[in-house]
Amino acid sequence: MSTFTVVEEQGVAVLTIDQPGSPVNILTAATKAEFETLLEQLRNDKAVRAVVLISGKPDNFIAGADIEEFVALPDQAAAEALSREGQAIMDRVAAFPKPIVVAVHGSCLGGGLELALACHYRIATNHPKTQLGLPEVQLGILPGAGGCQRLPRLIGVRAALDIILAGKSERAAKAFKLGMVDELVPPPLLRSVALAAAQRLIQSGLPRRPRRGGMAALLLDANPLGRALVYRMARKSVLAKTGGHYPAPLSALAAVRTGMERGMRAGLEDEHRRFGELAVSPVSRKLVQIFFATTALKKDDGVAPGSATPRPVRRLGVVGAGFMGSGIAGTAVAQAGVEVRMKDADLPRVGKGLKAATGILDGRLKRRRITRQEYARSAALLSGTADFSGFPRTDLVIEAVFEELTVKRTVVAEIEATVSDQAIIATNTSTIPITEIATGAHHPERVLGMHFFSPVDRMPLLEVIPGAETAPDAIATAVQFGRRMGKTVIVVADRPGFWVNRILSPYLNEAGHLLMEGTPIEALDRTMTRFGFPVGPIALLDEVGLDVAAKGGGVMHQAFGERLAPADAIGKMLADNRLGRKNGRGFYRYEGGKKAGVDHPVYRLLAITPSDRVSPQTIEQRLVYAMLNEAAMAASEGVVRSPRDGDIGAIFGIGFPPFRGGPLRMIDDLGATQVVSTLRALAAEFGPRFTPAGSLVAMAEQGGRFYDAGGSR
Ligand code: 3HC
Repeated sequence: MSTFTVVEEQGVAVLTIDQPGSPVNILTAATKAEFETLLEQLRNDKAVRAVVLISGKPDNFIAGADIEEFVALPDQAAAEALSREGQAIMDRVAAFPKPIVVAVHGSCLGGGLELALACHYRIATNHPKTQLGLPEVQLGILPGAGGCQRLPRLIGVRAALDIILAGKSERAAKAFKLGMVDELVPPPLLRSVALAAAQRLIQSGLPRRPRRGGMAALLLDANPLGRALVYRMARKSVLAKTGGHYPAPLSALAAVRTGMERGMRAGLEDEHRRFGELAVSPVSRKLVQIFFATTALKKDDGVAPGSATPRPVRRLGVVGAGFMGSGIAGTAVAQAGVEVRMKDADLPRVGKGLKAATGILDGRLKRRRITRQEYARSAALLSGTADFSGFPRTDLVIEAVFEELTVKRTVVAEIEATVSDQAIIATNTSTIPITEIATGAHHPERVLGMHFFSPVDRMPLLEVIPGAETAPDAIATAVQFGRRMGKTVIVVADRPGFWVNRILSPYLNEAGHLLMEGTPIEALDRTMTRFGFPVGPIALLDEVGLDVAAKGGGVMHQAFGERLAPADAIGKMLADNRLGRKNGRGFYRYEGGKKAGVDHPVYRLLAITPSDRVSPQTIEQRLVYAMLNEAAMAASEGVVRSPRDGDIGAIFGIGFPPFRGGPLRMIDDLGATQVVSTLRALAAEFGPRFTPAGSLVAMAEQGGRFYDAGGSR
C-alpha cells in the first residue's frame, strides 16, 4: 500500500503523506524511496509547476525518522550512511526546480521538520497540536538530515541552538515569530492557503525573507567574534544542564559550528559523521529504550487488556485545597480540560487553593505555553465549595487532605455519601496503605490510590495503587485520567512506600548514615549530582521537607524493620525547627527563597566534624547500591508490574539518571553477580542492611536478568 497520493490542481501537485495503518507518519526506508520516486515523476511532469506537501493524518505531519530503523543498525558506518542518505534526500528537495510548499498541521518533528526546512515555503496551522521541533538530542542523537545546517541559516545561530541543544518543540505561533514558518493559518484553511501560496510562487518566485532576531542576531550571528561568544555560552549552558553525561548536545553544537564556519558541505559531513557516532552509543540506546517504554505506557491502562472499560471523567472533585490539592486541580484544568470542583473546610481555604491552582495557569501564560483565550477557558473550569455542593456530578474525586489514616477514612466516607454510585474515589497518599483507607468504605471496589509527586504540575510521574478490592474499571479510569493530566502512569502494589518511596528510602537513609559519620553535605550532594541525579540526597531532603521525610522514614522503618532504620539526623534537625526549604531552615540556607550554601551550624547541631575521610567512590557505592538492592527486592515482591515500570518510575519519580536506564537496567548492565559481590562486601563493612536481596542472589546464580539481553525495549 502506498503512503503518498498525488492530485493535480491547476498546475500544482498536492502530495499527501498518509502512512497506512500507523497513527503517525514516519520517514521509513520505504516512505523515503516512494517519496523520491514521486519527486522524480513530478520533476519530469511538465504540467506540474509547483508542489504542495501535506499530511493526511488528523494531528500529525511527520514524527521524524524511523527510530525502530536506526536502533536496528548494526554499526557506526551504517548509521552514518543512513544520515548521509537522509541529507541527500533533503538536498534534492531543496534543489528541486519547482517550488515546494509544505503545509504543516500537527507534530512536525525531527526528520519531519528537516524535510519542512528543505522545502521552499512553510505554512503551519495555529493549532496547539502543531508543534515544530528537533527532539533528536532527547534520543541521544543529533538532527542528522541537514537540520544542524538549515535551521541556523533560517533563524540564526542563537535561536537554532536553543531548539537543537534542548531537543525542544515550539508551537506554531512561536515558530512563526522565529521565522521557521512563513505563514500561520487556521486548520480549515491550510490546504487552500498552501495552494494559493504555490500559485504565488509560480508567478513571482520565492519571497525575500527578512533577517530574524533583530540587532542582537545581527551583532552576534553575523561576525565570527559574536558567534564564538554564542557557541561558548551554549556550551556552558549544555554542560551545566547535562553534567557532561550526554554527548549529543555538544556534538550537535560542533556540527552547527562546522557548518557556519566552514560552509554547508563541511557542515553536512560533520553532521553525518557525528550522527553515526551517536546513534550506536550506549547513551542513545538507553534514551531510545526510555522512549519506547513511555510510548508503551501510553497504551497501558494498568489492567489486563480488554478486562476493563475506563469511565469518562468530565468533572473532577478535589478535596483538600492545600499545596497538593491545588496542584492537582490546576494541572487537571490545564492539561485535561475538565471541570474541577475544589472543597475544603472553609471558604478562605478554598479561595487560597483556587488562587494557587490558577497560579499554575499564570505560569503557563507567562512562559507562553498557552494563549490568553486558553487561559480564560481553563480558569473558568475551576470552582470551589466548602460543603460538597456540586460533588454529586463528579466522576472522579481525588482527596488530598492531611496524611493521617483516620482523617483520610473520614473524608472517604464523606465523599462516598455525596457522590453518585458510579464515581471513583482516589486518595493521594505517599505512605498510608490504600486497603486500610478503603476499609470501612461502602464500595471499596471504587477506592484506590493516586500518588502524585510534588510539585504536581511539574513532576511527570503518577503512581496508581489499587487496594485489595479495587475493581479493574476503577484502575483503568485513574490511569487514563492521569495520562490526560500529562503524567506517565505506573500501577504499583499497595506495599509500604509503593515503588518510588520504597527505593528512595534506603538511599536517603544511607545519606543520613554517611552524614552522621562526618561526610560533608556538599560531598554527598556533589557526588550524586555527578552520578547524574538532578539534586543530591541532602538537598532532596530539604526540598521534600524534613517533617515529611521523617514521617515517611518512620513508616518504612516500622514496615521493614532495622534494614530501613533512618539515621537520627532528621530528628535532631526537626527538634531545631528545621523543616527544609519550606521554612527557609534546612541543611542549606535559603536567602530570598533561593538556596544558598550549606548551613554550617547544622554540623554542630548533629555533633559531627565534617571530614573528607570517605572517598566519593565509596559514597556513590553505598548510596547507589542501597537503592539497587531495594529495587531488586521490591521488584521481586511484585511492587511493579514489570522492570520497565520500575525503571520509568525511578527516572520520572526521583530523577534516576536516564542515561543509566534506571536501577533495574543498571543491575543488568553491571551483572547480578557483580552487584551481589559488591553488596556482600558492603554488608561486611557497614552492616546487614546491605545483605543482597534473595532474588538478586538467585539471579546471580542462574545468570538471570531483568530484561532480555540486547533488546531495545
Ligand atoms: N519512529 C518510530 N516510531 C515512532 C516514531 C518515530 N519517529 N514516532 C512515533 N512512533 C510510533 C510510536 O512508537 C507509537 O508506536 P506504537 O503505536 O506501535 O506503539 C506510534 O508511533 C504512536 O506514537 P505515540 O503513542 O507516541 O503517539 P502520540 O500521539 O502520543 O505522540 C508524537 C506522537 C508526538 C509524534 C510522539 O510519538 C513522538 O514524540 N515521537 C518521536 C518524535 C521524535 O523523536 N522524532 C525524531 C526521530 S529521530 C530523527 O528524526 C532523526 C533525523 O534527524 C535523521
